[in-house]
Amino acid sequence: MDLDLTGKHALVCGASQGIGLAAARALAELGADVTLLARREEVLRDLAGGLPARAGQVHGWISADSADTGALRAKVEALVAAKPVHILVNNSGGPPPGTVHGAQIPAFEAAYRQHLIANHVLAEAVIPGMERDGYGRIVNVISTSVKEPLQGLGVSNTTRWAVASWAKTLATEVAAKGITVNNVLPGSTETPRIEQIIGNTASKTGRSREEVFEKMVGEIPMRRFARPEETAAAIAFLCSPAASYITGVNLPVDGGRTRSL
Ligand SMILES: NC(=O)c1ccc[n+]([C@@H]2O[C@H](COP(=O)([O-])OP(=O)(O)OC[C@H]3O[C@@H](n4cnc5c(N)ncnc54)[C@H](OP(=O)(O)O)[C@@H]3O)[C@@H](O)[C@H]2O)c1
Repeated sequence: MDLDLTGKHALVCGASQGIGLAAARALAELGADVTLLARREEVLRDLAGGLPARAGQVHGWISADSADTGALRAKVEALVAAKPVHILVNNSGGPPPGTVHGAQIPAFEAAYRQHLIANHVLAEAVIPGMERDGYGRIVNVISTSVKEPLQGLGVSNTTRWAVASWAKTLATEVAAKGITVNNVLPGSTETPRIEQIIGNTASKTGRSREEVFEKMVGEIPMRRFARPEETAAAIAFLCSPAASYITGVNLPVDGGRTRSL
């Protein structure tokens, strides 16, 4: 099975921690040159220096806020002009929790900009180079809420569906160019984001963090959260030559939590 990414350039977003960082490490392990993107420049600089690297492999970073899509576009277009991107991992911080009833318009606008519009800006910047070089992989890190909306994540659920629909449409349009577009749907994963969700639920319900954790784990057939490396393995596979005939799919990495097919 061909998992070799030597000579490929991967742009991994939301790469300063959690699932994005684990994906960056997995892609570097497979031989790709990796550019990390997130907001915290100091953190990215340190992490880029510590990524796995064989002779000839070069890693870098871009500090950008995916909510500022104008600046994001300029930075990524400059990156692509210097070095075409063959693999794009679209990933960012999840929208704040809250019910959809009562959600304010700016919350939808912010989430759409940071997720849907940022993903689109990034994809538009990298697709011409992918087409020219005959290799393209776009993986969007979304959520299992694409299949089953999650309670208390109203704006997030809504935004995730929009991203999944955008991705499916794009997958169809670019398939003939040798570019695949797929979505990885994490379930509960051991990252700072899940700590935030547990903390929010605990303070809203008056239950302890341990009780919230036990209830969440109880809903997962594997009875544990994912390690970010397990989610990253699915992302890296979809980015590999071995996944050449897979496009337009939603792949849950959730220990069996999603009950729908
Ligand atoms: N962990 C879970 O259980 C779980 C479950 C389902 C879905 N998800 C989703 O999967 C994605 C990744 O999850 P995660 O747990 O790895 O998240 P995380 O730990 O919160 O990490 C988010 C990453 O995105 C970056 N980021 C946040 N806002 C940004 C912005 N405006 N511009 C650029 N970068 C930004 C952060 O870095 P900086 O702060 O340096 O910018 C960080 O590297 C999220 O969308 C999350 O909602 C996670």
